[in-house]
Amino acid sequence: MKHKLMLVASLAAFTVACSATGDLAVLDDSLGLSQVSVFDVPAPAAFEYRDLDPKVAGVLPRAWEEAPPQIPHRVDRYLPVNARLNKCLECHEEPDKIGNKQSGKPTPMSASHYIGSGKDLAVANNRYVCTLCHAPQTEAATLVDNTFQKAP
Ligand code: HEC
Ligand code: HEC
Repeated sequence: MKHKLMLVASLAAFTVACSATGDLAVLDDSLGLSQVSVFDVPAPAAFEYRDLDPKVAGVLPRAWEEAPPQIPHRVDRYLPVNARLNKCLECHEEPDKIGNKQSGKPTPMSASHYIGSGKDLAVANNRYVCTLCHAPQTEAATLVDNTFQKAP
């Protein structure tokens, strides 16, 4: 008897829930992050990447230890990276200076970016396309508010 009662009660609750969701319309401007109707084609404000020369760019604070540092300087002259040309490496591949950053000079890529050992180091293939992990920067406003804070 107890079981039957519970079954009836849950069936009733299920029916109420179903009819309630039936009335809930999802508005076409609350489906995505852009806050306009999905039927509109929004044009986000145009933005430009930093156009600072590497010599004067300085470096940006890191969000947490081991985070890939953000690219502080212009990248338009150095991209795209392809199989024949990697401008980033022309400045940042300095295996004999790993860990020896000098202000205003290209930060040498860390040991994690090479394979091999001792003096016999080669750039690791999985680090070749730098912009997979290192992002160029712009002053564009964030699309969605968030509470991210960099690690102290
Ligand atoms: C002409 C030389 C040059 C080229 C080409 C170049 N960089 Fe740089 N890069 C620099 C210099 C110089 C700095 C450091 C500026 C400073 O310390 O004031 C720097 C800084 C950086 C940093 C920040 C490092 C840190 O310590 O926080 C990253 C990441 C970076 N570059 C990535 C790239 C990527 C990716 C490319 C290719 C798209 C690239 N760079 C191309 C010279 C260059
Ligand atoms: C798979 C992701 C990934 C790719 C691809 C990658 N990096 Fe990094 N990079 C990182 C991370 C994570 C760090 C911070 C931790 C570390 O040093 O290993 C870093 C650190 C660095 C640093 C700072 C080194 C230091 O001693 O502070 C430089 C400069 C750099 N990368 C340049 C490059 C360049 C140039 C390329 C392309 C040839 C590249 N990276 C490709 C993830 C990546």
